[in-house]
Amino acid sequence: MIRVLVALALFTLAACDDANSGLIHADPPVKPPAVQFHRLTPDLLVGPRPSPEQVLELSALGIQKVISVDALPPESSVWGDSLQLRHLPLDYRDIPRTFQLQLARELSADPVKTYIHCHHGQHRGPAAALTALLNLGTIDQVEASAWLDRCGVAYRGLRNAVQNAEPANPEDIQSATPLLEVAETKSLSRLMAEIDQVWDRLKRVPSPEAPNARTQAEDASELVDLLRLSSGTAGPVDPGYHQQIRKAIDLAITLESQILDGQDAAEARSKLRASCRACHRAYRD
Ligand code: HEC
Repeated sequence: MIRVLVALALFTLAACDDANSGLIHADPPVKPPAVQFHRLTPDLLVGPRPSPEQVLELSALGIQKVISVDALPPESSVWGDSLQLRHLPLDYRDIPRTFQLQLARELSADPVKTYIHCHHGQHRGPAAALTALLNLGTIDQVEASAWLDRCGVAYRGLRNAVQNAEPANPEDIQSATPLLEVAETKSLSRLMAEIDQVWDRLKRVPSPEAPNARTQAEDASELVDLLRLSSGTAGPVDPGYHQQIRKAIDLAITLESQILDGQDAAEARSKLRASCRACHRAYRD
């Protein structure tokens, strides 16, 4: 539910006046929010994780392949059997060259109309798609940097990955490892160990000169991802547990948006700390 609300807020907030971007509207009476996507090439669209209604609209555009670069794979239950689904989870810090080559291979080996999505459709999806197009030599740096701004890619590591991407040797692209339909899942204890590392950098408001002061936005976004992944991973079977994890995701989303807003988010940090403790007390310790 929270994800839907966030998506709704983003759809309403996002403004787009670019001729290459599309808005899809559904008929009344129940009008889902328009999917806001960017058409980077005639066959490559990037945008947010769509709702089931929006999936229908996107399918109607002739999309045949969906690649999620979000922590979670594309939802096969809503996309149906006729589409090819791929999953390449990315974080907010970098797009490693091996991943760029894998994406480039996916786009060139089987050129069908493709939709690449992350969660919000603003940062990882566009950046990943642009690196793949640069590796393929389909677009140049001038076009890529215009798209970075148009899509609103804000994270420094993702912008750097695009700015440093170059046309690759075609053999390197062809020999890249094919993408999986669903990337390997991690156990809850492994995810919690990763949450712990990220949380170490987030738990206190950093002083401006501390090394973690510069990565607060990336860390907060990663925390949201890791908690979302945890909620989909086998854990305690108890409705209360799911409520707690949803609450933790909600708090992490608040922390993320306050940090992106330039606030110190001290209260959100302390509420999150209480939420880690409450869940551990009830379901771990
Ligand atoms: C909704 C419940 C819940 C929330 C919220 C939660 N955890 Fe956990 N955590 C667990 C459970 C359950 C385990 C035990 C997992 C297992 O061992 O299978 C665990 C395990 C851990 C572990 C031990 C991992 C290991 O090495 O086995 C750490 C560290 C941890 N959590 C950190 C955190 C931090 C930091 C937060 C808050 C930012 C947090 N957790 C939020 C439920 C939660």
